[in-house]
Amino acid sequence: MEIDIQLLPIAPDPASLSNRSVVVLDILRATSVIVHALSQGAKEFIPVLSVEEAFEKREASPPGSTLLGGEKDTRPIEGFDLGNSPREYLSERIRDKRVILRTTNGTRAFHLISSAREVMVGSFFNLEAVARRCVELDLDLLIFPSGDEDRFSIEDTVCGGMIIDRILKSGKRKFILTDAANAARILFQHFENNVVDAFRLSHHGNKLIRLGREEDLPYCARTNIIHLVPVFKDGVIRVGD
Ligand code: MLT
Repeated sequence: MEIDIQLLPIAPDPASLSNRSVVVLDILRATSVIVHALSQGAKEFIPVLSVEEAFEKREASPPGSTLLGGEKDTRPIEGFDLGNSPREYLSERIRDKRVILRTTNGTRAFHLISSAREVMVGSFFNLEAVARRCVELDLDLLIFPSGDEDRFSIEDTVCGGMIIDRILKSGKRKFILTDAANAARILFQHFENNVVDAFRLSHHGNKLIRLGREEDLPYCARTNIIHLVPVFKDGVIRVGD
């Protein structure tokens, strides 16, 4: 099993994905929102690329069934029900709801890798469950950080490095790591005792702090508190089997 991580959020060749599993990461904060909300009882997520598409899809949904969530330039979107902090996605608000999510980097990432054999949603919250699922699948793996507006993101890469570390520690198979996968693991080892330091160093972490959303940093760093693995299939994200 080969383990790779895409250090820049560039669309891979779709043919190269047909036999691989992919883990999408957007720690600050789209995939943290998705994992958190599904663990709180949300029914499903539809990741969309634009605000207009989100409104159109809600229009076409049965009344009362659907919420709009996400951000534009890290801020809540006018007319949406929820922003993009996992702390907002609690059971009393989202239980049994479909959430149409529009974010800058995270929701776009799902559309870049949709041809993969299996697409999982990762975060620090469900990291061990994701690592276990990757080992069970026994497919070549691509970890796909959503990045920060086409650039490298430290927080996603540290999480990817931690998933790689956990897969290797499972000791269950022979793993081949690409140079990028080795580099991500080394970056994770540097921040192993305090991943929030990596968030504080990051461009996006700093933006969240400037906008008064600092509490999301330690919240999104909580590790292995959720044991489900959401899967993206045919445009919809649901809890996997
Ligand atoms: C994104 O998808 O770009 C993010 O999750 C942005 C954010 O939450 O601030």
